[in-house]
Amino acid sequence: MRSGTRTVRALDQLRRQISDWRAQGLRTALVPTMGSLHEGHLTLVRQGLRLADHVVVTIFINPKQFAPGEDLDRYPRDEKGDSRKLKQAGASLIFIPDLSLMYPEGFATTVSVAGPAKVKLEDKYRPHFFNGVATIVSKLFIQTGCDYAMFGEKDYQQLKVITRMARDLDITTAIIGVETVREPDGLAMSSRNTYLSTAERSVAPLLHQCLADTAGAILEGKAPARATASARRRLIRAGFKIDYFTARNAETLETIRSPNEPVRLLAAVWLGTTRLIDNIGV
Ligand code: PAF
Repeated sequence: MRSGTRTVRALDQLRRQISDWRAQGLRTALVPTMGSLHEGHLTLVRQGLRLADHVVVTIFINPKQFAPGEDLDRYPRDEKGDSRKLKQAGASLIFIPDLSLMYPEGFATTVSVAGPAKVKLEDKYRPHFFNGVATIVSKLFIQTGCDYAMFGEKDYQQLKVITRMARDLDITTAIIGVETVREPDGLAMSSRNTYLSTAERSVAPLLHQCLADTAGAILEGKAPARATASARRRLIRAGFKIDYFTARNAETLETIRSPNEPVRLLAAVWLGTTRLIDNIGV
């Protein structure tokens, strides 16, 4: 049924291909990315292929989700390598729009999100981020009209924000969360891991270790506030700077108020000039 991987850059090519598939009764899954693909993205493609007949991968580094001074200019780019990996993973269509297609002259619309987008996690440190993500992801949903959209749990708050947005706006695309893919030493895969020096890379897995140990301590009855405080001390001793390392309600991402709530541990830390995020269920 699948026949090779095609790259398109124009909206009419994208729409024609997807509506041809729809006319044949075939289902599609969308994997939105900013490129520089790793095994985490390829897992989204493979999971998409379990649900749908064709996977559409978009590659667009979205300037609206970067603040001035963030890493937009140095964000890794590798279109050739990405295309090769996507062919191997079985993606059918790669959509690589340019800036003027996504943000034409005079672009004046922003999708503004609240709820899980306003819980003082990523939103506290990157206040522009979720409106930028929500705007581009809405556009991709409208452009592709895919049946499914795959998002990694590594960006757990992003997954919750998009799920809420899709529900609120009656978007018919089903939002599918996919488990974080890790290096053998536990470090969550991320395009930004390439920024780490050799020394930083060797201590980076401690983040996941601390999340796992904290989850274990909470399961054994330690209060989340005390368990996360000791993890923060341990990370600081190892040279990390911490934006947050906290226990939240796994669904709302609000602060935990009762012992029976589902708990998710979420963290954002710095090693040198590299910011790492990760999370784990308890
Ligand atoms: O998770 C990402 O890579 C981005 O935030 C996304 C969803 C592709 C939107 O630009």
